[in-house]
Amino acid sequence: MKILVTGGAGFIGSHTAIELISKGHTPVIADNFSNSEKWILGRLEEISQQEIIFYEGDCSDGNFLAEVFSREKNIAGAIHFAAKKAVGESMEKPLIYYKNNLLSLIVLLETMQEFGVKNLVFSSSATVYGEPGSCPIPETAPRQKAASPYGNTKVICEDIISDSVFGGKNISAISLRYFNPIGAHPSGLIGELPIGIPNNLVPYVTQAAAGIREKLTVFGNDYPTPDGSGVRDFIHVVDLAQAHIKTLEYLEKQNTPFYDVFNVGTGQGNSVLEIIQTFEKVNGVEVPYEIGPRRPGDIATCFADPQKIEKTLGWKTEKTLEESLIDAWKWQNYLT
Ligand code: UFG
Repeated sequence: MKILVTGGAGFIGSHTAIELISKGHTPVIADNFSNSEKWILGRLEEISQQEIIFYEGDCSDGNFLAEVFSREKNIAGAIHFAAKKAVGESMEKPLIYYKNNLLSLIVLLETMQEFGVKNLVFSSSATVYGEPGSCPIPETAPRQKAASPYGNTKVICEDIISDSVFGGKNISAISLRYFNPIGAHPSGLIGELPIGIPNNLVPYVTQAAAGIREKLTVFGNDYPTPDGSGVRDFIHVVDLAQAHIKTLEYLEKQNTPFYDVFNVGTGQGNSVLEIIQTFEKVNGVEVPYEIGPRRPGDIATCFADPQKIEKTLGWKTEKTLEESLIDAWKWQNYLT
């Protein structure tokens, strides 16, 4: 299948492009490079040994998307990664987040309808569960008002999609609720490229280990968790990427209208301190760190119940936490 990958030069998008190719599909990347680098496309060509089709532009521009769909005949579906994703920034610039994340989805849905493109996979997030009542979290857990405008855009986008599926023409969609994607391609050629000081744990760990940051601050060691630090469900980005291909292949077999949501996680919770210790052990390098206060808005524990996606799509994580942290370090070394 020929698949539009919006945000295909980004962290999860670039890994998904590679997995699409390895399963015999053709990605068509659309990216405005606002939070990604053009040279990643060259890396995708290096890994896949084939030419990558890409268009530079903004997905909230209907003319741009219409041009992509009309020039690329027979696009069978879209995976929509293109979105702004920094929780803290979204608190300072809420309107930019709402405008960008909602408008690009709406314009994509309109253009898909115009061109008769049926299948959509949407990048949602475990953030839609807010502070969960208990873990593991199944998809039936109630969504809650998100703690940030970024998180709220994911809740609203899920609703826009389900309303468009059931009220629209010939659309089938699945929202994938990601837990915490980490790691990098095992080749070390593509990975996460945080702009400035990383917000997320693992990029900060790798930069602290590389000496780019003086030390990592562990945000709180007084949570009600086994060692007091926050617990998350860390999933290797290649496993996550593969979930998108399984999702598309499943969607292709469904009759419209069809909408569903799947958690994409390992089902295992690991603490911040465990991440540091495991990283040090598998990579033989020290991570300088200190314990600091809790980060506002953080929750104690968040991990998935992944049974639904395992049973329905036959997908489950294959890579270990150790592999994720080895690959993250390999990528950091490639960069520095
Ligand atoms: N942490 C630190 N120090 C750091 C960075 C993070 O101790 O420098 C801790 C956090 O307090 C948290 C854990 O590491 O306990 C993970 O933090 P991340 O920022 O890596 O990830 P979050 O779980 O906060 O956020 C992720 C995604 C968001 C998404 C959210 C909820 O990055 O996009 O999960 O699903 F909204």
